[in-house]
Formats: sequence, structure tokens, C-alpha cells
Amino acid sequence: MLRTQTCGELNAKSEGKTVTLCGWVNRRRDHGGVIFIDLRDRYGLTQIIFDPNFNKASWETADKVRPEFVLKVTGEVRHRIKGMENPNMETGEIEVYITEIEILNSAKTPPFEIDDEKALNEELRLTYRYLDLRHTRLQKNIVLRHQMIKAIRDYMDKEDFLEIETPILIKGTPEGSREYLVPSRLYPGKFFVLPQSPQQLKQLLMISGFDRYFQIARCFRDEDQRGDRQPEFTQLDVEMSFVQEKDVRDNSEKLLIELTKKFAPGKKLFKKPFPVLTWKEAMDRYGSDKPDIRFEMEIADISDMVKESGFKVFSDAVKNGGVVKALLVPGAGEKFARREIDEMEELAKAHGAKGLAYFVYEKEGIKSPLIKFLKEEEVTAITKKTGAKLGDIVFFGAGKYEIACESLGQVRLACGDKFNLRDPNVFAYLWVNEFPMFERDKETGELNAKHHPFTRPMDEDKKLLEQEPEKARAMAYDIILNGCELGGGSIRIHEADLQQKIFNILKITPEQAEIRFGHMLQAFSYGAPPHGGLAWGLDRLVMIFAGEPNIREVIAFPKDQKAKDLTLGAPSSIPEKQVAEANVQILKTQ
Ligand code: AMO
Ligand code: AMP
Repeated sequence: MLRTQTCGELNAKSEGKTVTLCGWVNRRRDHGGVIFIDLRDRYGLTQIIFDPNFNKASWETADKVRPEFVLKVTGEVRHRIKGMENPNMETGEIEVYITEIEILNSAKTPPFEIDDEKALNEELRLTYRYLDLRHTRLQKNIVLRHQMIKAIRDYMDKEDFLEIETPILIKGTPEGSREYLVPSRLYPGKFFVLPQSPQQLKQLLMISGFDRYFQIARCFRDEDQRGDRQPEFTQLDVEMSFVQEKDVRDNSEKLLIELTKKFAPGKKLFKKPFPVLTWKEAMDRYGSDKPDIRFEMEIADISDMVKESGFKVFSDAVKNGGVVKALLVPGAGEKFARREIDEMEELAKAHGAKGLAYFVYEKEGIKSPLIKFLKEEEVTAITKKTGAKLGDIVFFGAGKYEIACESLGQVRLACGDKFNLRDPNVFAYLWVNEFPMFERDKETGELNAKHHPFTRPMDEDKKLLEQEPEKARAMAYDIILNGCELGGGSIRIHEADLQQKIFNILKITPEQAEIRFGHMLQAFSYGAPPHGGLAWGLDRLVMIFAGEPNIREVIAFPKDQKAKDLTLGAPSSIPEKQVAEANVQILKTQ
């Protein structure tokens, strides 16, 4: 090693030692001819001093160094003079008086200062990601990610799981996104498809008898970017044989509690064991399939009370098979100006609602554009059901079940934010289960698998599969943390005939099923054990633990919001010869 110590380990006990350090010039100051440099490596910062009266030659060299130069320095550790100690720095008790300096490399002036406080342009940050990663905050995030992955591996190993790698060049596995394709050179016109998850392979491993599998797995999904999504991301992927839903959940729950204690010791666990809500309960009470349960503000159903109402929006909604829901926001009447009510209406509309009716409970009575259409007993019943009092607002959502619930759910979250009810010091984990098996595609009206087509229907709902598939519930579960979907999984189908039935409902013909999933149907016919599993979004987990607002902050080399790799410059054109070798013809270029 070129160094004897790192920049993060010297303290008062090291006084008098001669040490050699290597690192980057974080900051340089000149004080009356004496040069002070904070030397930085990933372990910390150490103040080094070049005093012309102590060592003239070193001082002369130090005079030439600039930020981000790479230095090797040797010197003597001294206690700082009284009053000059820096309690905010691990090495703040000492400084090193330098006797020898070697400039290992110079550096151009970086495009931004390596200074944690400044908000930087993301394009610049990602273009120079190797410099961005020098920021202490990002270094901490990457270290945290490493430590959490290590703790996960240790836990899974202790619990008898085997880590098994699955291939990246595969036939693809459906998880609801567009797929990334890799053209084949050896087989013209054929493609590999990158895995959206290792779903089918981990199920095949169960059929092989591996019984308890996990993988820190890279997944690829060509979908629109958001703060909590990346085209390439990492899952903790798990599969287990001879289990029921509770076994899979318990395994993850124990691990999440262990990780929280270890890596977020300051956070209060909201409830242990984690609450379990069915999808229907979650939608009914919180207007979301990933509710933030750190605050109450629950939604009430008032459909029965207004089904005959003179306010057509309400009565028609119920007549057309929809619902009317009400959200009480305590104290909002006093705190919300008209403008804020309008903002909430805009929000509800952005989530599909046609409007957002409301009652404001004022001294003079209820203020509302619809009060004139409602009978007194309807108003009384609504007030009683919601528990509204003077100073409160009740918002209403009327229409199709999911739209009414979800639009009010969004208003609920926005009110939670406005009133600071989403306590950042609390970790509220929650399981949501009994999801519907299928959902309708908004554009085509076709039925799609809500989770994925390998998910098992609940036993008591199998009879619904033929006639009313939309009503059938799945043995599927999601794990939620503070309103963010951390992960999801299901108990799987392990019988070829049931799998074929689900393909039929999804309008996958036997021929298509054979082409796309013939291997699964085959495998199920050779003694597939009952099995199930789940996968967490590891980036999302580390993001929440690190207190970061998006997953790019916890990924060393993320894609930007337009799915580009700005560091290496990808995607990029490739030479024509290579394109031809891949048997690809370019139809359009940018
Ligand atoms: P699912 O598709 O729900 O399930 O994915 C599991 C978890 O992976 C994370 N995730 C993502 N993270 C970042 N960027 C993305 N684009 C992205 N997409 C998903 C989420 C999500 O909850 N094979 C099933 C799991 C199973 O059934 O075992 C699957 O992949 O946190
Ligand atoms: P309108 O009848 O469209 O003038 O709406 C009267 C009030 O009802 C307004 O406050 C609207 O925001 C509200 N409103 C309209 N449609 C809905 C709906 N589907 N759900 C809840 N409120 C609605």
C-alpha cells in the first residue's frame, strides 16, 4: 500500500506518529503563508498542514496543488491547538504536519465543486458520475447499499436459502412492461429478451428441488421513467417450495425488521407484526393499494345514503354500479383557502375523477355547492358517518369504484403532506393481499394479469374464473413501506391444467402458450411442488433507508429520466458492420 493510514482514522491517540496518507485535495486554504488542505478519501477527511518554517520543500510543492489533485503525503500527527478542534470531523482532534509530498496526479478544474450542499444539474452530475460519486452523501449511500446487501445475504444464508444466478439472455418473462431485445448474430431474425425478473427461472429451480432460492437479481424493463423506476434495477428475488402465503411473508418480515433495526435505528416501527389489509380494505379505507398508514384520515362509503339523492352526480354513480366515497379532513375548513380546495379538485381530476364535491363545516352551517340538492337527513347521515365537526371539510368522490377510491386517496395523501402527518421518523410497513387476479386494460378493454400470469387464484374463487374472472382474487401480496410499494409476490400455479386455464382467460391461445410458455407447462407436468415467493425492489428499499427522494441517488451508474446512460453515452450508434452481423436493419435513426 502507498499509505499507512486512511484519511478517516487518525485521532488523539495517534499523536506523535509518522503517517503516510493518500487522497484527493478536498479544500485548500492559505493562512498567513501556512497552507491547510483537507485531504479526502472514502473513509473521511484529514487536515494536513504545510508550514514553510517546518518543511520548506513540501510547502513549495503544496503551493502548486489545486482541488482534486491526488496526493501522497507523509508527516507527523499533532493534536490541534486548544479551541481549534473540529467536533464535526471524525479526525477533528488532530492535524498532520507534512514533511514529504508527492503529487500522484493533477486534476483539471472539475465541472462542479465536490461540495455536498449545492443542488446540481442532474445532466451534469450523471455525465460526470465518477466525480459526482465523490460526494460524501453518495459515498454513504453506496456504502449503505453494500452493507444492506451483505446483511440480506447473511440472513438468507442463515435461513438455508441458496443464492443461484439466473441468465440475462433469455426468452423474456412477462411483468407488464415492454422488453429490451438483443438480436442474435448466430440465428438471423431471432432475439434474446432481457428478463423483467427471474420469475420463470426461479419457478423452474423449485421444480428442480432447490426449495429455497434467492438472488440479488438485475431486472430490465423498458418503461417510462419515474423517480422510483429505472430501466435497469435490482431485486431481492425469493422463491420457496412447500409454503403458504404466510411463510413467504414471515420470512421477509423478519428480514425487514432486522434491516430496520440495524440500518435505520432512529426510525420507529409503526406496528409489529406488520398489519395485513386485503386489497379491498386498503382501497376502501385509504383509496390506495399501497396506503401510507402513518396517519388515519380514512375514507367512508356513503353510497347507501345518497343512492336516491337529488344530486344526480351521486345517485347516478350508484345507479351505474359505482360508489360515492367521503373523506373527512379534520380542521381543513379553517386552514384551507378556496384556492386550496381547487387544488385538491385538480388533483382528483388528474386521477380520473370528474370533480370533487365538498362540505365545509362553518359556524353558519355547511358551505357547499351541492347542499341545495341534498335532503336534510342525507346531510345528517353523511355528517354522522364521517364524524365531521365544526371547522372540518368532507370531500366526496362519486363514480367507478377504483376512480372514486383512488382520487380521494390522492387527496388524502396531499392533505397528509399539507398537515405534516407523514412522520419521517416512522417506518410503517404493511402487507396488502387478496389482489384481484385480473384487471382490464384501459385502452383495449382486454383482461390482463394484475400480478403476472403465474399467480394462483384463491381456492374459494376458482369457481369464478369461468364466468366472472374479474371478481376472482389472487394469492398475491405486496409489501408497502410508508406508501411506497417495496415488493410483491404470490403463491404460484403449479399445475399445467390450471396454468392453461389462466392463459385461456388472458386470451393466450394454446398455440401461443406453447410458443411462449411451453417450457413451463412441460415442467409443471414433471412433479412441480407447490411454491411461492416474492421480490423486493432493492433500490427502493435503500432509497427509503438513505432518506433519498429517488432511486438514482442509490445506484452507482443510473440511467437518466429519459432512460439514457449519460456517463458512457448509451444507447449509441454502432458501426454498420456490427449492425449487419447482428442481422438487424435500421429503419429509423435519430
Ligand atoms: P414486480 O413486478 O411487482 O414483481 O416487482 C417487484 C418489485 O420490484 C420493484 N420494481 C422496480 N424498481 C425500480 N425500477 C423499476 N422499473 C421497477 N419495477 C419493479 C418494485 C416492485 O415491487 N417476479 C415478480 C415477483 C414475484 O412474484 O416473486 C416481480 O417482478 O419495488
Ligand atoms: P357539476 O354538477 O359538474 O357542476 O358539479 C357540482 C360539484 O360536484 C362540483 O363541486 C364538482 O366538483 C362536484 N363533482 C362533479 N362530479 C363529481 C364526481 N364524480 N365526484 C365528486 N364530485 C363531483
